Amino acid sequence: MGNKCCINVFDDGPLGIEDLESLTDANGEELEIKSRMALCRCGASENKPFCDGAHKKIGFSSKIEKQETDQKINEGKRAIKVYLNGPYEVSGDIELNINDEMSLSGDDPYYLCRCGASENKPFCDGSHKKIDFSDE
Ligand code: FES
Repeated sequence: MGNKCCINVFDDGPLGIEDLESLTDANGEELEIKSRMALCRCGASENKPFCDGAHKKIGFSSKIEKQETDQKINEGKRAIKVYLNGPYEVSGDIELNINDEMSLSGDDPYYLCRCGASENKPFCDGSHKKIDFSDE
């Protein structure tokens, strides 16, 4: 493995991903990986799963985060899978950094909201179903 992989949760903005090994869409297709990427978590990007700056246009707020901080380290390939009309599934040894406080990932895998509606941001709480979140 190369550099440490991490997810930086930006206030009112996207997930900043560094040194990921695999990013797949809902069909299992591998998406292009860059050493640094920004993934949408407001649900409004027109270039999902990537951030296109739409969080600013819609005034996305992430202020209701509870910041769960289970101290567990995952093993295996550092990967993010995009679920169709649903969250990101995160697996592998990936640091999750919230508001400059490092916290390690919880259960393996765990799920990060990308619809913008979770009341437990940055984690998915199933709200994507309630709001009928769509990748379209
Ligand atoms: S993706 Fe937002 S609550 Fe599941």
